[in-house]
Amino acid sequence: MLPQISSSCSSKMYRTTNLLFTLIILSITSFSQVVNALALQPQYAHGSGCIPAERAALLALQKGITSDSADILASWEGYDCCRWRGISCSNRTGHVIKLHLRNTFPGPKAYNYNGCSDANSLFGKISPSLLSLKNLEYMDLSMNCLLGPNSHIPQFLGSMDNLRYLNLSGIPFTSRVPSQLGNLSKLQHLDLGEGYSGMYSADITCLTKLPLLQYLSMSTINLARIADWPRPLNMVPSLGVINLAGCSLDTASQSLPYLNLTKLEKLDLSLNNLGHSIASSRFWKVTSLKYLSLRATQLFGKFPDALGNMTSLKVLDLAFNNLNKTENLQSLLKNL
Ligand SMILES: *[C@@H]1O[C@H](CO)[C@@H](O)[C@H](O)[C@H]1NC(C)=O
Ligand SMILES: *[C@@H]1O[C@H](CO)[C@@H](O)[C@H](O)[C@H]1NC(C)=O
Ligand SMILES: *[C@@H]1O[C@H](CO)[C@@H](O)[C@H](O)[C@H]1NC(C)=O
Ligand SMILES: *[C@@H]1O[C@H](CO)[C@@H](O)[C@H](O)[C@H]1NC(C)=O
Ligand SMILES: *[C@@H]1O[C@H](CO)[C@@H](O)[C@H](O)[C@H]1NC(C)=O
Ligand SMILES: *[C@@H]1O[C@H](CO)[C@@H](O)[C@H](O)[C@H]1NC(C)=O
Repeated sequence: MLPQISSSCSSKMYRTTNLLFTLIILSITSFSQVVNALALQPQYAHGSGCIPAERAALLALQKGITSDSADILASWEGYDCCRWRGISCSNRTGHVIKLHLRNTFPGPKAYNYNGCSDANSLFGKISPSLLSLKNLEYMDLSMNCLLGPNSHIPQFLGSMDNLRYLNLSGIPFTSRVPSQLGNLSKLQHLDLGEGYSGMYSADITCLTKLPLLQYLSMSTINLARIADWPRPLNMVPSLGVINLAGCSLDTASQSLPYLNLTKLEKLDLSLNNLGHSIASSRFWKVTSLKYLSLRATQLFGKFPDALGNMTSLKVLDLAFNNLNKTENLQSLLKNL
């Protein structure tokens, strides 16, 4: 140990001397350059700059795009990346804070439609170079075909820990939902839905580490192996929107907890084979609900009296069910 300490001491001293020396040389020979560099800083403050490392990261992303027939990235040239299409920089710091590359011209929408069934998509991969955008708060890559070599959701997304908004909707990944997403503790909006693919999860407890999450869509992701989906969701009291349409949610066991989210306004459970009596459904205590879709869920039986307490409800979608005992529905809905 001792010799190491002394050697690191002496190398520190050496570096300090070296630094002083460099500073002296700098002050003599390139004083004007230093002044120039300092003078550049206020430019960032006015939002007209682009941080070179972040520009390089975006160019690396562009390099991973193999097809861009809608010319979404056509403006990605020249120095100031803050002016490129889909990029926003902070007025204060000059850092890239927003990346909005949503495919906004998707073709005619049909069942099983996703970014890979649309010629206007970006095709290619999501480059790990994005990790250099350390201040990125908003990323929307939705409706593109950015599957990379193996069609997995990149795990490195879990390290982009300033993200508040992440939209990968319509990218037909085929992997497990990575638990690393639970590291995105500032996330408020998470949209992974509409991929119509082989994406699945057997465990969504990583969501319980997202205390600010307001919007969650996992529609069309196979969640059949999650027996008690209300339990982890109850641990995220900030949730206002939950979309679990077409998630292969199964018959609920009677031991499941009730959803008790007090801010939840929209719940979409459509296109799941719930197949249990409607009275034993898990959401009747969520009196904050404004929108509830139970379309095509194989529910049956009588409505519970608790429906009469859901006084915020504006839309209740019950289409394509076998509800043959709806005689109490009229009286329950009278209060609403
Ligand atoms: C940044 O500057 C632009 C253009 O001057 C302005 O429209 C925008 O509101 C500003 N944003 C913030 C957060 O100040
Ligand atoms: C994500 O993108 C899709 C399609 O581009 C859009 O329909 C959806 O509303 C977006 N989700 C959020 C949370 O904004
Ligand atoms: C992200 O989360 C995983 C577990 O979900 C953990 O093993 C890993 O250390 C975390 N990474 C970072 C960078 O926090
Ligand atoms: C909701 O239920 C969970 C258990 O499922 C519990 O930990 C949490 O405290 C409950 N929240 C409210 C607001 O009652
Ligand atoms: C409806 O709400 C009232 C007041 O909070 C409560 O006493 C009653 O038990 C609720 N009814 C049902 C069926 O949950
Ligand atoms: C109502 O639906 C249940 C379950 O689907 C069925 O067993 C029952 O025969 C139906 N009753 C009538 C009157 O159609």
